[in-house]
Amino acid sequence: MTHILHIDSSPRSARSHSRRMSQEFVERWKRVHPDDIVTYRDLGHDPVPHVDEPWIAAAYTAPELRTPELWEAIRMSDRLVDEFLAADLYVIGTPMYNFSVPSTLKAYIDQIVRPGRTFAVDAEDVDNPYKPLVLGKRMVVISARGGGGFGPGGQYEKMNYQTPYLAAVFGFIGVTDVTFIDVEYDEAGGKTLENAIAHARHQITQFTEGASHAVAP
Ligand SMILES: Cc1cc2nc3c(=O)[nH]c(=O)nc-3n(C[C@H](O)[C@H](O)[C@H](O)COP(=O)(O)O)c2cc1C
Repeated sequence: MTHILHIDSSPRSARSHSRRMSQEFVERWKRVHPDDIVTYRDLGHDPVPHVDEPWIAAAYTAPELRTPELWEAIRMSDRLVDEFLAADLYVIGTPMYNFSVPSTLKAYIDQIVRPGRTFAVDAEDVDNPYKPLVLGKRMVVISARGGGGFGPGGQYEKMNYQTPYLAAVFGFIGVTDVTFIDVEYDEAGGKTLENAIAHARHQITQFTEGASHAVAP
């Protein structure tokens, strides 16, 4: 059985392409795997706080040395990490904002990329001190964009700081199996957008149906 953590980060509601397509992904997945569990987190409408000074002090203090105040400072972060670690498949809907992710998604990432929880630091291993702790998971990122050409070989590929950033930060904690599905051309609209949505739908179907053969009954 797969436990999906479904995360949306667009502040838009019905007009959001990333929200609609991430929902379609989960609905399609559930049709194939009705018993699978889905946990939903809506960063676009219910953002998590930015990390602050007490958070940093707590996260970088060894658990056995934390005061009750320090534990309190990372209580929310611990809950978010617990939720993240409980899932096997992450489905993230995100807009492209200024060539990267919206700040709501960045704030979430800052909350869950935690020493001792999602990565370890081995100071004695000087050449390779960071060890990923989130292993054996998969991720699908559905990214909506106003323009187009941010994919491989595209006109604006070099300005795409979103895909490489997400691959790097989630890879850092161990989530290296990441599939990116892009819905470009929100601003062009019309047939161009329709084609982009149809292409994304096709990729979603391929993933949900392809994965159905790989997952144990
Ligand atoms: C603050 C802001 C920044 C944006 N930056 C970009 C950008 O860098 N590249 C792009 O192609 N579109 C950009 N857009 C357009 C959105 O990516 C596009 O509308 C997308 O469909 C939003 O996702 P959603 O449909 O899930 O809400 C931006 C939109 C906003 C509001």
